[in-house]
Amino acid sequence: MLTGKHVVLGVTGGIAAYKACEVVSRLRKLHAEVDVIMTENATKLVAPLTFETLSNRPVCVDTFTRVESWDVKHISLAQKADVFLVAPATANLMAKLAHGIADDMLSTTLLATKAPILLAPAMNTGMWTAQATQENLQTLLARGVKTVGPASGVLACGDTGAGRMSEPVEIVEAVCQLLTAKQDLQGLKVLVTAGPTVERIDPVRYLTNDSSGKMGYAIAQAAAERGAQVTIVSGPVHIAAPQGVTVLPVQSTMDLYHTMLENAPAQDIVIQAAAPADYRVENPADQKIKKQDGENLTLTLVENPDVAKAVGQQKKPGQVLVGFAAETQQVTENAIKKLHKKNLDMIVANDVTAEGAGFGVDTNIVTLITEAGLNPQPKMTKRQVGDKILDEALRIYQEKHAAKQG
Ligand code: CTP
Repeated sequence: MLTGKHVVLGVTGGIAAYKACEVVSRLRKLHAEVDVIMTENATKLVAPLTFETLSNRPVCVDTFTRVESWDVKHISLAQKADVFLVAPATANLMAKLAHGIADDMLSTTLLATKAPILLAPAMNTGMWTAQATQENLQTLLARGVKTVGPASGVLACGDTGAGRMSEPVEIVEAVCQLLTAKQDLQGLKVLVTAGPTVERIDPVRYLTNDSSGKMGYAIAQAAAERGAQVTIVSGPVHIAAPQGVTVLPVQSTMDLYHTMLENAPAQDIVIQAAAPADYRVENPADQKIKKQDGENLTLTLVENPDVAKAVGQQKKPGQVLVGFAAETQQVTENAIKKLHKKNLDMIVANDVTAEGAGFGVDTNIVTLITEAGLNPQPKMTKRQVGDKILDEALRIYQEKHAAKQG
């Protein structure tokens, strides 16, 4: 609930402006007060009246036309904001904010605000990856500006890639995080593994799995926002690293194994959400394998090390280890076996065949399993699952440390 909280929403002229209507509606349902400022271009995509109706307040467009007391309005909105959200945030808006350009109501108010700023970037992939945009982004991040997204997917221009605005539900969640963020992981080191691993067959082919990395990245983001010092050991994924997080990229399960044995001992909490390949090709070819002219091609696969088990064998006193169990049948029984076999403190079990759970989707349905028993959770966004896992991991951490002192 955001009762008494004031969100100023800047809407710029990206095609995703229509999705900002849902953002306002969701914020209002949480009882936030919302003031909308639109750029002139945004009004060509969505009528100000739509936002006025949804927010129940007049919409500001620019300093001279629609707002009578324009000279104070931008200052009063800048001061009133508990959070200043811009969704969609175009490349142009980001460039202006990075360089202090204030030439309309939105950029003027943004420059004047002391409130936390959250941008939901939305633009063509080429514009997002352009060096200028990326440099502006780094400038803004370094000043403490937060971002949500962009996601990857099919864009309005027909291109596929990064640049799609995050969904309204995720944007609203990020606003809630900013407004209610707790710092209960401050001083703790948290390492999260994420994504698939890839096992080379030859220089152009590999074996992998459907893991998107979304669950691990959501946990890492939650941990960073709660004040932890966070490292992600990540297989190849298409997700931008959360702010302030160190990413150690890996390719194969053997890479993951070596990286984890080196980095896990220094951590307070280790959460292994990666889906490492259990097998690797025994003899990957140095050259591209040629077609066999009708003959079968046989690949011999050898078992990879169980990384979580190896990390479990070197567990330090006071350290908390969490694993995942992606199952398609006998979910609880299999998960409990893994909890013991890998010397974990908690295992997060999920039935990857259930709707709204598992690979690729933004939600998950999990059961947290510890020695104390089963703790089934309702369907939640991966971010909310991340917070739940961290709540529980922190509780175990505190219990262990209280026991050590007592
Ligand atoms: N895991 C690991 N190393 C592997 C395989 C899995 O560290 N080679 C970790 C995963 O990151 C996860 C947990 O172990 O935290 C369980 O992974 P899962 O794939 O569910 O189980 P496996 O141990 O591989 O067992 P199986 O595939 O037989 O179900």
